[in-house]
Amino acid sequence: MPGQTPKELFSTYAKIIPDFAAFCRKLSDPLPVHLRINTLKGSATEVRLRLEKSGVFLVPEESVAMVFRADNVAQPGYLLEFSLGHLHAQALSSVLAGLVLAPRTGDLVLDLCAAPGSKTSLLAQLMRNRGLIVANDRSAKRLIPLHANLKRLGVTNTVTVRYPGQHFPKRYAFDRVLVDVPCSAEGTLRTGANGTLRQPAQPGKKLPGLQGDLLLRGFDLLKPGGSLVYSTCTYNPDENESVIQFLLENRPAKVQPITLEVPHSPGLNQWKETTYASSIKQCWRIYPHQLDTVGFFLAKVRREF
Ligand SMILES: C[S@@+](CC[C@H](N)C(=O)[O-])C[C@H]1O[C@@H](n2cnc3c(N)ncnc32)[C@H](O)[C@@H]1O
Repeated sequence: MPGQTPKELFSTYAKIIPDFAAFCRKLSDPLPVHLRINTLKGSATEVRLRLEKSGVFLVPEESVAMVFRADNVAQPGYLLEFSLGHLHAQALSSVLAGLVLAPRTGDLVLDLCAAPGSKTSLLAQLMRNRGLIVANDRSAKRLIPLHANLKRLGVTNTVTVRYPGQHFPKRYAFDRVLVDVPCSAEGTLRTGANGTLRQPAQPGKKLPGLQGDLLLRGFDLLKPGGSLVYSTCTYNPDENESVIQFLLENRPAKVQPITLEVPHSPGLNQWKETTYASSIKQCWRIYPHQLDTVGFFLAKVRREF
């Protein structure tokens, strides 16, 4: 409904979000602009010095070394350093997904829902353009910005393909798989410059089914011993913990602890009538009043055999 306050919009979650009042207050702050320095093209020191000469000062984010807050930059896309591929505008929580997946330089990596490529290009950065990433997205339209971003950011270890991810062919097995699914995107709803809360799109009733199918296929494409990250930018447990529970009930999957030093809350134990496996507490919920970024959910899963 148009014009809803944060408290009205998220009332269903009042009991599961810690310090719900602080959460609602935080949604009235505009989302900060975060920039990731692309070390495939140069060092963070060089880029920061160049930006400072044009009056742009980047503030390091304590918890994530390659991410900076740009308080006086409304439209990073207009910076020369952006066009040259030295920077990418990316939410702090989105960067965490790549850091948790932690691909190694020689890995074969699948990014199942990749467009427009913020996380694919981060994975390439972490792999120093070595190994191979297969970046998949079912949307032909969204492959255009994916290609543009990979080119601008100097990514050379990635091929792109277009399959419905839930039917991705089982021809190869991957060391790492990222399943960054389409979701209701509730975590992105913060006030804009005009001071009003962005309102959600109509929630897709079919999303959890699609998310579960994407996760199962992503898991089936892992090598034994390989690991996967499942992520969303929503608070809805039906799209988060319930999807991980579905995986645990259907595959030999083990939820892994996430070892970064970043403020977060644990995965839920219970939602409505459902009690989740206790290992799901190791998943992360990122809330804007705990970490000033887009609300997010992260699960790291290992394939046992
Ligand atoms: C959350 S966005 C991905 C964002 C991307 N990982 C990034 O960091 O830039 C979800 C993506 O899933 C894609 N998608 C939707 N349904 C899909 C499906 N069945 N198979 C594969 N991709 C799908 C959408 O086109 C969209 O680009």
